[in-house]
Amino acid sequence: MTITDAPPLTATIPTMHGGLANLDDEHSYWLDDIDGVIPIDLEGTFYRNGPGRQRIGDTPYGHWFDGCGMLSVFSIADGKVHFANRYVRTPKYVDETAQQRIMYRGFGTQIPGGIAKNIGRKPGNPSNTNLVYHGGKLLTLYEGGHPFHVDATTLETHGVYDFDGHLTRNMVFSAHGHFHGPSGHWFNFGAGSMGMGRNGPKMCFNIFRIDTHGKMVDFGQLPLDGFPFSHDFALSDRYAIFFVNSITMGGIGDVALGKRSIADGVAFDNSQPMQIALVDLHTMEVAHRFETDPGAIIHFGNAFEDGDEVIVDAMHSDNFEANDALSDIFNAPRLRGGEYRRYRLNTSTGRLSYEVMSPTNSEFPTFNQADVGKRHDATYSAVSVENGHDSFFNGIQRVDIDGNIQLNTLEPGLFGSEPLFAPSKHSSKDADGYILEVVYDGHEHNSSLLIFQATNVLEPVATLKLRHHLPHQFHGYWHDKVMLNAAR
Ligand SMILES: [Fe+2]
Repeated sequence: MTITDAPPLTATIPTMHGGLANLDDEHSYWLDDIDGVIPIDLEGTFYRNGPGRQRIGDTPYGHWFDGCGMLSVFSIADGKVHFANRYVRTPKYVDETAQQRIMYRGFGTQIPGGIAKNIGRKPGNPSNTNLVYHGGKLLTLYEGGHPFHVDATTLETHGVYDFDGHLTRNMVFSAHGHFHGPSGHWFNFGAGSMGMGRNGPKMCFNIFRIDTHGKMVDFGQLPLDGFPFSHDFALSDRYAIFFVNSITMGGIGDVALGKRSIADGVAFDNSQPMQIALVDLHTMEVAHRFETDPGAIIHFGNAFEDGDEVIVDAMHSDNFEANDALSDIFNAPRLRGGEYRRYRLNTSTGRLSYEVMSPTNSEFPTFNQADVGKRHDATYSAVSVENGHDSFFNGIQRVDIDGNIQLNTLEPGLFGSEPLFAPSKHSSKDADGYILEVVYDGHEHNSSLLIFQATNVLEPVATLKLRHHLPHQFHGYWHDKVMLNAAR
């Protein structure tokens, strides 16, 4: 369906808010409501992570980021798909489930009961944002804390994971690590501090290099001015590329005193240019710096080098209104993305330029992981299309490397998620692979897994209906083997 033939807005078209209902039950079953044919050359595990519950009893969390992390696992082989979901057994999940009340602060959540209940309390870790399988371990990720190690065969939670003590108690570890093409190493970062300065702690990004065995083998620090909010970075063969957003996190003292949440102090500073730093992966030192207009980039697509130029795909906003929507997610009229831009950073001349790859509000960009750091075929993203029913991501977009756009607007009342590339088991090419996407149907209050050929996101080759809804998720991961015992 295109924008022009969408029906007029009526009260009968549901919004995205039904997809915020809790899924408290944990399931494990084979999907049998299938429209189309599951490709026989698609084999592996499609993992999702996201907040599976947004309220405890009648009390909602104060922010979408604070719901407890729940893994949704689609195991695919021999033309069949098994589904399972399981919550990460964080202390927050275990304690709040037992007590049936909010017991931990969050990014935007205060413990009910005023300052006395919150003073000096660190936010809990819902481990709800992303996950990775690397070095033989499945890790769930949240940028405000350490990862959790989850058993890939049973989905049982083994506990907090600190890379043999290298991730010290006060360090945090972002939800957006990236694989490095030439080495197969996995790089990640986390906001931190590097000692005290005249005006308090000197902020930095800690940068971590993890080898193919899962060992943390190198560490660097990128000094920062102030206390910016950054969620993701980009990785090329030579550089870790950080865009330091014009988003500030103020009033940290009041957060410590229990007076307000972190999200209350998050603001967009229109006078603060975005600082860009290219960190050399061999020295772990800053090699090049750039500056550009004030902006906010939450997620990046691929990055690659072409001579002296470093090319970076990013979803750019000139504001951070998203935080207002995320803080009031149960009432927010809409949640939208950014403008898909391709930046060109010339390391020889210092020149920065960009082109707009798609004008449609885009978020959750993904691409074929076989092409990380190389010229890729296409970027896939969730999009918000203005069709009168755009309270959330309501479309799927494919933009090829030359800028040709495919845009699939979902039927009104249906809402999408991050589309993820899964290769064919015979080939790593986009032309042979698939795009997997969970879609929430507000009419029926249930969710489906849609499988598209990667070169055609306009029409799924298979739609598999779940027996229930899946709360809107954040990010996912594809593993090329079936890992879950229940699906083997
Ligand atoms: Fe993210």
